[in-house]
Amino acid sequence: MTETHLGAKAAPVRFEGVSKVFGKDVVAVDNIDLYVEAGRLVTLLGPSGCGKTTTLRMIAGLEMASSGRILIGDQDVTKLPATDRDVSMVFQSYALFPHMSVLENVMYGLTFSGYAKGEARTRALEGLDLVGLTGFDSRLPSELSGGQQQRVAVARALVLEPQVLLFDEPLSNLDAKLRRQVREDIRAIQQDLGLTVVYVTHDQEEALAVSDEIVVMRNAAIAQIGNPRELYDAPNDRFVADFIGEANLLACQITAVEGNTATIEIEGYTHSLPARGLQPGAATLAVRPSRLLIGADEGIPATVAKATYVGVRMEYTLTGGFGQVFAVHDDVDTPLDPGAEIRMAFAERGPVLLPD
Ligand SMILES: Nc1ncnc2c1ncn2[C@@H]1O[C@H](COP(=O)(O)OP(=O)(O)OP(=O)(O)O)[C@@H](O)[C@H]1O
Ligand SMILES: [Mg+2]
Repeated sequence: MTETHLGAKAAPVRFEGVSKVFGKDVVAVDNIDLYVEAGRLVTLLGPSGCGKTTTLRMIAGLEMASSGRILIGDQDVTKLPATDRDVSMVFQSYALFPHMSVLENVMYGLTFSGYAKGEARTRALEGLDLVGLTGFDSRLPSELSGGQQQRVAVARALVLEPQVLLFDEPLSNLDAKLRRQVREDIRAIQQDLGLTVVYVTHDQEEALAVSDEIVVMRNAAIAQIGNPRELYDAPNDRFVADFIGEANLLACQITAVEGNTATIEIEGYTHSLPARGLQPGAATLAVRPSRLLIGADEGIPATVAKATYVGVRMEYTLTGGFGQVFAVHDDVDTPLDPGAEIRMAFAERGPVLLPD
């Protein structure tokens, strides 16, 4: 990689009570507060229609906030048009110019913002180098694979050295293998250059893989903000537990709370875990499929309803008085058979109580 100054201008983004209402009553974004630190990659994650793209477009100035304030760096940009903001966006559909070469595509924005041709060319070549496309400069977009086209789109946004770089579902046109590779490339470039990136996806695995922080959105509002591990290990409610990875939800009784530790009981089996502010009584437990211990000596009685070999692990559906759970197990060599009567327990840091 060549010496580069790209990324030097990375700035933080702040939303203060920002809403966006379309027409009379479509509330696409409802009073959100958000802070994206300079040089970090923050993902907006949530189901279709929850307001992710609208939030991103308000950072770009492609939509104007109906109320609240948006700051980029120290500047209040709430009323600033897109052309006056120092932001670039990478779209799901690449949006490359089909009749221009790769180099011309990457140079386009630079020439447009007033760079002399020589300087624009140098910077564009530097950008192509960063995304691993050295030597592809004279090709047309139609002569590239989907992943390469997406890299050109990334280079084109990068070379403008924006204060903030925005990605709206940048990988959704790629197949699974390429998705993993391009997402790793985007993350590596972001970290190398210390770029501020706001990244939209509805794919929870992608969000867990690339993010410093994840903002889970639901119905135009923020459901929870946290780093990948916090969201996976300690979701605030059923929605987040279910949206970030698979979660088994089990009814339990909190039998005692001492300090911050609760003791719960399910069918005679007890387990201690953080109380998260709850008091004794009925509660809901979320347990990840990999954190169910199956075939333990002691635990909740369960029957293996289904056993599926998927190569790297076994997947089990277990039924019992608790209802039905989904479990995964690394041991593929001695699988349990359907119909087996077993005991199911929780890993040490397995289940979490849901405060809602
Ligand atoms: N220009 C518009 N006019 C009216 N309603 C809009 C407009 N743009 C978005 N909406 C509505 O605002 C809500 C949020 O849309 P948005 O595009 O932000 O969702 P999203 O989270 O990006 O969804 P997806 O995952 O499907 O892309 C939706 O109900 C949508 O129908
Ligand atoms: Mg969208």
